[in-house]
Amino acid sequence: MNILVTGGAGFIGSHTLIELYKAGHTALVVDNLYNSKEEALTRVAGILDIDHIPFVKADIRDREALEKVFSTNTFDACIHFAGLKAVGESVAKPLEYYENNMNGTFVLLDVMRRHNCKNIIFSSSATVYGDPAIIPITEDCPKGQCTNPYGQTKSMLEQVMIDLQKADTEWNVVLLRYFNPIGAHPSGRIGENPNGIPNNLMPYITQVAVGKRESLGVFGNDYPTHDGTGVRDYIHVVDLATAHVAALQAIERKQGLAVYNIGTGHGYSVLDVVNTFMKVNNLTIPYQIKPRRAGDIATCYCNPAKAEKELGWKAQYGLEEMCRDSWNWQRNNPNGY
Ligand code: NAD
Ligand code: WQD
Repeated sequence: MNILVTGGAGFIGSHTLIELYKAGHTALVVDNLYNSKEEALTRVAGILDIDHIPFVKADIRDREALEKVFSTNTFDACIHFAGLKAVGESVAKPLEYYENNMNGTFVLLDVMRRHNCKNIIFSSSATVYGDPAIIPITEDCPKGQCTNPYGQTKSMLEQVMIDLQKADTEWNVVLLRYFNPIGAHPSGRIGENPNGIPNNLMPYITQVAVGKRESLGVFGNDYPTHDGTGVRDYIHVVDLATAHVAALQAIERKQGLAVYNIGTGHGYSVLDVVNTFMKVNNLTIPYQIKPRRAGDIATCYCNPAKAEKELGWKAQYGLEEMCRDSWNWQRNNPNGY
């Protein structure tokens, strides 16, 4: 299939491109490079040993630019990664987040249907469950109260696409709720490249390891978990990437609407991650216990059985590989791209 990949220069998009091409698909990326570098696409092409990844630098809110992309290409499906994703920033800049994520998706969906491309895989998030009512989380767990505008955009956009598919059943909509993606391509040539101080745990750890930050703050050790620190379902980004390939197969089978949790089903605490990172990479990560971070929950991990049953997809990598590959990327690219 030929796939439009919005936000394809980003962390998850760049890894997904590799798995798409390996599975025999082709892609064109539309990205405004707000949170990414074109160099990522050059490296993806290098890993795949191809000349280049077709790329249009454009904002998906730019209808004219998108119309042009659709008039000059034929797409079988779109994988829609483009969006702003920093939770804290979304609290400070709600209008910018609602405007970018909602409007960008509205324009994209409208241009897609005008060009009769009615297959979409959407990057949703475990954040839609809020403080989950059931652990491990299954897809029928009720959506919860999101504590930030970023999460609200994911929850609302899911609903927009559910309603769209209900109104026009020619659409195939696959909502993938990612848990906590970390790791990097085993080549160490592409990986996560956050701007400024990382908000997320793994990039913070790797920046401490590479000497850019002094010590990790562990946000709270009084949660009701096995060691008091927050528990999450970390998933290797390469596993996340292959989930998109599996979702495309579901689209080929005309799945209609489908929702999947994309995680490993294992919950690891902050200290589990820190200790595994130190052991696997033979490094010391200094850390200090800090107060809880506002909006955090104690425990979040999924039951990924539905994705295995219906998509034939299952995560292959464990926490050790995630820690090894995150460090391999950071060590080889101390300043990112
Ligand atoms: P990322 O920031 O690395 O990638 C997103 C890409 O979208 C960037 O390259 C950015 O430049 C681009 N973009 C943003 N707004 C755009 C616009 N209006 N027009 C064109 N391009 C635009 O993020 P990521 O970690 O690769 O995440 C990809 C998707 O997955 C996002 O939608 C994110 O919300 C979602 N997600 C991420 C995580 C995570 O922890 N990384 C978890 C759950 C869901
Ligand atoms: C993981 C654990 C922290 C940093 C976020 C979004 C979610 C999704 C994935 C997009 C928590 C602790 C963290 C640090 C720490 N993204 N921590 N010190 O919060 O589970 O999820 O990213 O959809 O929507 O909310 O991920 O990596 O920020 O935190 O102790 O410096 O690590 O408290 O327990 P989170 P995270």
